Amino acid sequence: MNRLIVVSNRVSVPKAADSKGAQGGLAVALAAALREHRGIWFGWSGNETETFTGHLNMQRQHGVTTATIDLEHQDIDEYYNGYANRTLWPLFHYRVDLTEYERSFGAGYERVNQRFADSVTPLVEPDDLVWIHDYHLLPLGKFLRDRGMNNRIGLFLHIPWPPTRLFVSLPFHERLVEHMLHYDVIGFQSREWLESFNHYVEKELGGTVSDDGTVEWNGRRVVARAFPIGIDYAEFMAAAESDIAKRAFERLKSSADGKKVIIGVDRLDYSKGLVERFESYHRFLTEHPEAAKDVVLLQIAPPSREDVNTYQDIRNTLEQSAGHINGAHADVDWVPIRYVNQGYSRAELAGFYRASRVGLVTPLRDGMNLVAKEYVAAQDPEDPGVLILSRFAGAALQLAEALLVNPHSSEEVGDAINTALSMPREERIRRWQSMVQSVRDEDVIAWRDDFVTALKGPPANANPRQAA
Ligand code: G6P
Repeated sequence: MNRLIVVSNRVSVPKAADSKGAQGGLAVALAAALREHRGIWFGWSGNETETFTGHLNMQRQHGVTTATIDLEHQDIDEYYNGYANRTLWPLFHYRVDLTEYERSFGAGYERVNQRFADSVTPLVEPDDLVWIHDYHLLPLGKFLRDRGMNNRIGLFLHIPWPPTRLFVSLPFHERLVEHMLHYDVIGFQSREWLESFNHYVEKELGGTVSDDGTVEWNGRRVVARAFPIGIDYAEFMAAAESDIAKRAFERLKSSADGKKVIIGVDRLDYSKGLVERFESYHRFLTEHPEAAKDVVLLQIAPPSREDVNTYQDIRNTLEQSAGHINGAHADVDWVPIRYVNQGYSRAELAGFYRASRVGLVTPLRDGMNLVAKEYVAAQDPEDPGVLILSRFAGAALQLAEALLVNPHSSEEVGDAINTALSMPREERIRRWQSMVQSVRDEDVIAWRDDFVTALKGPPANANPRQAA
């Protein structure tokens, strides 16, 4: 079996399912990929150093070998807080209004990608498969090729790819995509993002896309495909059956005191539609006062990327909104929103999901969204809850039996909350059965195998003379 060299910005091997903290879907997925293949997971340590040295810190953590480097303050500022999270993240989530275009961010982004290339190159042996992840590292494939690497190199993008009309607002957009065309395989979360990418390559770069998904441009051939990511179903179900999950279930049930719980769990990020979600809930409370007293919304939102101003802004806005709604509707023995900024372990979340009649997952734009899948997996088959899901999440393509909503319309989401709360058990079971099948079958193991198989495919770019 080929070794797998995984490269991502963050290296965070998930600890036991009972450990706390906000773990993005990426971390869980990558640990699952490395569990099967021998190999190395390379990335940023998360630490800052005075002056960049490129020193590799190799460790064995929970069965996975990791290699990390520290970055300088300026690197973190321009690459992570800057280009990745002030430029690409908002733009790729269709928020041109929040996107900042600073030349220094672009320069820092390329500098750190070059540093990654320098550090990864000596770790790679000739038969290794190199699998790069996410928007932090889009040009890395090109920089590895510049160092003579002929291995199969793939990229998986965990977030959306924006429509061409938005993407072209990025200065030097051609350069970024031309660099990406040095991969052998590029994977997207859904057809929609894939189509936007292909559209860009055809319209702006004059490349061609064939029916089998091969993109050709300037003598290069790249397989571009959708590989929808899933959850680690077996691992999640084991966590869901643990004592921790059972205690969390009891804790929420007893504190809800007979009321139906609506649950939301999101990193505190403007792409998650939390302001709009609170507004929709407010609308539901106002328009259905008789149903309102029987429900409580638990919104868990661990803070994220706190050095970026847009994240500070969204936090302030949400605090005000929760305070406003609670002030307007609360009674001596009832508070409509429990707004919680701490993270919980996957096992505890599994218990909370199972105790909740409604899962409210309403991002304005999301590459996939694994909370939706975890909510489905955690339900009691005899008495499952209802998933309300944004049509703008990649997961909506697979979870079509959720109540699909437009998260911008507080009327539509407010109505869906009302429908979900009164949905008969037979209908809840029918919808859940169809969804849980896809969550179980299209899990992270299937995703990993599918991507790795594509990555192993016939050489395309190994020798530039053949490709030309
Ligand atoms: C999303 C991204 C990941 C990222 C995670 C957490 O899931 O796709 O690449 O790791 O958010 O964000 P952070 O900035 O804390 O790594």
